[in-house]
Amino acid sequence: MSATPVTVTVTGAAGQIGYALLFRIASGQLLGSDTPVKLNLLEIPQAVKAAEGTAMELDDSAFGLLRGIDIYDDAKAAFDGANVALLVGARPRTKGMERGDLLEANGGIFGPQGKAINDGAASDIRVLAVGNPANTNALIAQAAAPDVPADRFTAMTRLDHNRALAQLAKKLGVGLDEITKLTIWGNHSATQYPDLFHAEVGGKIAAEQVEREWLENDFIPTVAKRGAAIIEARGASSAASAANAAIDHVYDWVNGTPAGDWTSAAIPSDGSYGVPEGLISSFPVTSENGEWKIVQGLEIDEFSRSKIDASVAELGEERDAVQKLGLL
Ligand code: NAD
Ligand code: LMR
Repeated sequence: MSATPVTVTVTGAAGQIGYALLFRIASGQLLGSDTPVKLNLLEIPQAVKAAEGTAMELDDSAFGLLRGIDIYDDAKAAFDGANVALLVGARPRTKGMERGDLLEANGGIFGPQGKAINDGAASDIRVLAVGNPANTNALIAQAAAPDVPADRFTAMTRLDHNRALAQLAKKLGVGLDEITKLTIWGNHSATQYPDLFHAEVGGKIAAEQVEREWLENDFIPTVAKRGAAIIEARGASSAASAANAAIDHVYDWVNGTPAGDWTSAAIPSDGSYGVPEGLISSFPVTSENGEWKIVQGLEIDEFSRSKIDASVAELGEERDAVQKLGLL
């Protein structure tokens, strides 16, 4: 077991995702069962007390790998020395708020957090934006951190990926482990494109094993609108499944993806598949030696092209909007 703990900073630690996430990090599921962790929790001042309550429960769980918990309401202190940053805390959209208002409110959170990461995080910092709009929040944080390699800033589409796996497995009556090479393209929003044309089930293309009608009119909208369906059913947005996806994303980033398969993550585009360079868009990715790599050489047919383009266009619009607000 390595002696030096890995410092994981979690923002929005007193929120519902935070509550589902922290215990799993402390138990070793984020980084591996032989990696000790130190938790830095960042909250707004009004929620620090609630975070203290969660920290008491973390203590009471007696996790062997947990080497300490500190709670902050100051980003600079919370990201000092951080190796992993999970940016969960965000401003939710409230009644009467336009998209521009939401982007501006989140710019006020993710800009200063990006700067704090730039100024004080460890040189191997890895950042995952979970708080919505996740892709553009990651972009805002990245823009405020010019000294950190751009590819350390990512956004979460692993929940969408996991949702797509579950829907397909249910449809075909197969185990999840029989499905490989599924991809979520684009934005973590209702425009995302879950792609079955490269996914395989039992080694055969998934799209050829389902009706086209189901793929277009059931599967894609069900996955893309699952977040809204959870809110409708639960009266609150997804929390445990979102925390689970954050664990999956970071675990694979650090430990690598299995041979012969890939996963989905929103990472800065290098121009692959016609996605403008710099946009933080979801791609098929593998992780090797601690770095995400975009899977190359996939043929994209006309149907997939139009779906990818639509989601990427939305990301471009979000980028233009935050640029206009002076956040990039
Ligand atoms: P929540 O409202 O329960 O918790 C959010 C927490 O963030 C609150 O405790 C709040 O005090 C804190 N916070 C607000 N501003 C902060 C700041 N500047 N610094 C630190 N903490 C701050 O929300 P939740 O259910 O935990 O969800 C968090 C975010 O994750 C939301 O934006 C939600 O839309 C998003 N989400 C994303 C995905 C995804 O797949 N990417 C999935 C589910 C939810
Ligand atoms: C989700 O996909 O569950 C969330 O992003 C939904 C939301 O709007 O918080």
